[in-house]
Amino acid sequence: MSKLYSSYTLRGLELTNRIVVSPMCQYSAENGMANDWHLVHLGSRAVGDAGLVFTEAAAVLPEGRISPSDLGIWSDKHIKPLKRITTFIKAQGVSSGIQLSHAGRKASCQPPWEGGKQISPLAGGWHTVAPSSIPFYKGDVVLVPLELSIEEIQVIIKSFVKAAKRAVTAGFDTIEIHAAHGYLLNQFLSPLTNKRNDKYGGSFENRMRLLIEVTKGIRSVIPQEMPLFVRISAEEWASGGHTINESVEVSKVLKTNGVDLIDCSSGGVVRQQNIPVKVNYQVPFAERIKKEVNIATGAVGLITDVFQADDILDKDEADLIFIGREMLRNPYFALLGADQMHIIPNWPKQYERGNPRK
Ligand code: FNR
Repeated sequence: MSKLYSSYTLRGLELTNRIVVSPMCQYSAENGMANDWHLVHLGSRAVGDAGLVFTEAAAVLPEGRISPSDLGIWSDKHIKPLKRITTFIKAQGVSSGIQLSHAGRKASCQPPWEGGKQISPLAGGWHTVAPSSIPFYKGDVVLVPLELSIEEIQVIIKSFVKAAKRAVTAGFDTIEIHAAHGYLLNQFLSPLTNKRNDKYGGSFENRMRLLIEVTKGIRSVIPQEMPLFVRISAEEWASGGHTINESVEVSKVLKTNGVDLIDCSSGGVVRQQNIPVKVNYQVPFAERIKKEVNIATGAVGLITDVFQADDILDKDEADLIFIGREMLRNPYFALLGADQMHIIPNWPKQYERGNPRK
């Protein structure tokens, strides 16, 4: 019996299998609005029978976008086109999630296919914000982020909470808070990027404060039966940065504040990082947090095959498998993978005649 293709329940949400479409920016929105691209992209992965389809990082404020063409959820206007997508995903018997994010000092960039450089406010970008005025990028444009005031931090917390309410109205089954890859919440967590002297900086407890306040705020406005995920960079791969030891502690606090699953990614906080990239290299983080914190975890990173994914679950190293780039290459990863495992794939009736076993 394949664990990958068995159902999984978190709070009131039952997933039909353990395959999750990892959040992936599409750089295809205008003013943060989802459009036909997002419908077809996310809809195809639902047709492909992933158990849970996550949107890309959706910005809770316009200045929280990585690029001007990121998805957003900072106003009620964003709800309707997102609802169209969740309705389609639901009609395929698949669950949907949205990742809520603020890019902080890594905002105001070109899409990767335009070079990915930061854009100055004069050229259509904006002033970035961060816990401390330390730039991330070097190059021809250097945006020194503005240090957020306590009042501005409160606005950001409220924006995450309002975005979560909108996500519920838009019909998402779950929410993931993006606290990884060196974006704003990660910038507050990390001693490498947070040099503040107030209650949001300094001690470990203080650096965690923003993430915990965002978590508490979101948990208080979403339904009790809706699970809440947090993506973290479990290891920052940089001298003086967080290691898995601190991430275990962060996860314990997140759990007591109503988080149901830790999605274990890594890196992205500073440019001077040394990542030993190889197959399953982030899986040990999911395993350690799962065992030491007794919380569900997601494994992600270079997982490209259903047997590899099933093996991770079988060894009890994680509960869900997030698939990124392989899902870009193959929206039918779950359907074709079921066939490889000799499990009857759940092809949509419209596609039944394409089922390799028929
Ligand atoms: C990503 N990733 C990512 N992660 C995240 O938390 N939010 C996001 O919006 C994005 N955006 C994004 C865009 C694109 C084009 C790629 C390829 C990746 C990271 C992604 O979710 C995943 O963690 C990594 O790609 C590693 O998994 P794979 O690709 O090795 O399966």
